[in-house]
Amino acid sequence: MPTALAAILLILVSTALAAGSPPDASVRGAHAMVVAETAEAAAAGLEILKHGGNAIDAAAAAALATGVTHPASCGIGGGGFMLIYLATTGKFYALDYRERAPLKATPTMYMRGGKPDEALARDGALAIAVPGEVAGLDAALTRFGTMKFQQVAAPAVRLARDGYPLGTHLAGEIKRMAPRIAHDPGLASVFLKPDGSAPAPGDLIFQKNLAETLVHLGDKPADKFYHGELAAELAGFIDAHGGIISAADLAAYQPEWREPLHRAYQGDEVYVMPPPSSGGVVLEMLGMLEPGHLVGLGVNSPPYLARLIEVMRQGFIDHDQYGDPAFVNVPVATLLSPEHINQARDRALHHAAPTPAPTAAHDHGTASLEVVDSAGNVVVLTTTINTIFGSKLMDPKTGIILNDEMDDFAVAPGVPNAFRLEGVAANEIAPGKRPLSSMTPTIVVKNGKPIIATGGSGGPTIITGVLQILLDVIDFHLGPRAAVDEPRIHEQAEPATVIIEEKMPLETRTALAQMGYQIRVVPMLGGVGAITIEHGSIRGAGDPRKGGMAAGY
Ligand code: DON
Repeated sequence: MPTALAAILLILVSTALAAGSPPDASVRGAHAMVVAETAEAAAAGLEILKHGGNAIDAAAAAALATGVTHPASCGIGGGGFMLIYLATTGKFYALDYRERAPLKATPTMYMRGGKPDEALARDGALAIAVPGEVAGLDAALTRFGTMKFQQVAAPAVRLARDGYPLGTHLAGEIKRMAPRIAHDPGLASVFLKPDGSAPAPGDLIFQKNLAETLVHLGDKPADKFYHGELAAELAGFIDAHGGIISAADLAAYQPEWREPLHRAYQGDEVYVMPPPSSGGVVLEMLGMLEPGHLVGLGVNSPPYLARLIEVMRQGFIDHDQYGDPAFVNVPVATLLSPEHINQARDRALHHAAPTPAPTAAHDHGTASLEVVDSAGNVVVLTTTINTIFGSKLMDPKTGIILNDEMDDFAVAPGVPNAFRLEGVAANEIAPGKRPLSSMTPTIVVKNGKPIIATGGSGGPTIITGVLQILLDVIDFHLGPRAAVDEPRIHEQAEPATVIIEEKMPLETRTALAQMGYQIRVVPMLGGVGAITIEHGSIRGAGDPRKGGMAAGY
């Protein structure tokens, strides 16, 4: 293990022990905190903070390091959303660096012989949307960072060049995907052993070409990624594999600064990403729960969960109205109006028992991270290449794994995507359009000061995972460790099946089944990370579901 990483992991553990907490309690810090989905990424963020970087610098470093150590989930071939609270202005900033459909994309591009071929939107070069990750990190650093790109990229470069021990989560993904990985020479050369077998947890993974690419990006990463040699290489690779992204697509990519959405909940103010993210759905669900006296029901009690299920269902019905605001008029003001929320709550309270339906596929890709610095700045970002290993294509020369974000569009009307979200008009494919996303970075403030930073991964379970963290912390006063560890549920209207983690007590699951809910028990839902800030104490918890880690000082 590289010495710097070992030193930081030591700080991380000793911080928890020094605070007198058992190792499974929230990590505490008096000054700053990074929560990420790998220990290496949390360490990368902490290293940057300790070298004087701010939360934006640290978030960029942790995102790049996550791209190396969680390469099945995210990386510079993908894109994301970043929510920033800046202490000096007391304002929120929402950065959308979501991928865009290629300029040659059409609503019928996945139709073959009169029928939609969904596999084309998930695997292979036609599934790739124009990556936004590098443009987004560059825009955030340029506007609010204090460090150059190479400084924040240094931990990621080290990890990619010198190797990192394969974590259990990634080892499982590689093993499961080994036959698919074997089809792509780029992925196989990095993630399979020379005899074609999957590496074991603890084996070192090297991504030397990716390390070189990160160095090649220099301190003007967007110029280098979207123009010139690198852009020509990527466009050539995609073209050779039957894709339609050209150098013109890359040159046209721009991230967007947007106005965050916010709404009061129990006296706090909750800030989320606006469309094309689904943050508004979390606000609507909170609105439906506002007068709910949840504490009286008890955390994860059957009546509490039944209330959540109904609220989640109503929220996901309205989720269909979200899309890229440059192309569709998302009626956010109406959806978040008291009248609409009252009607939705009424439906939630009187909904009859649901009808059974086929179940949704879930994977646990994507990555979220949360950072608080000593000046009080807060960053939550969520980044993805969509499903595990994205399009399952790595450009071997650059080491970049390309996303399959086109599957987040309506592949065709009424056709569900990998997460069983059905294709609706607002999310129809158009050239240059951003697909609807479930990624929901969230920051809560009390009296103008941030108190909670949270986000998650796992497709639509991000929305419901973030909701449950907010309720656990705000209503039930759980610390981040306990909130993240609580078993979670997920319901998304279609299919009308409630997904429940297996660690939810059997009597609770039985009680829900007796209420008429169709239940599917899964080993785990997606990962959620959380930081709370209270009376000068910062507490953080990564999600053990994915090997997440908090590092603070
Ligand atoms: O943006 C979205 O909603 C999806 N691309 C997220 C995918 C994801 O979380 C993968 N894991 N289940």
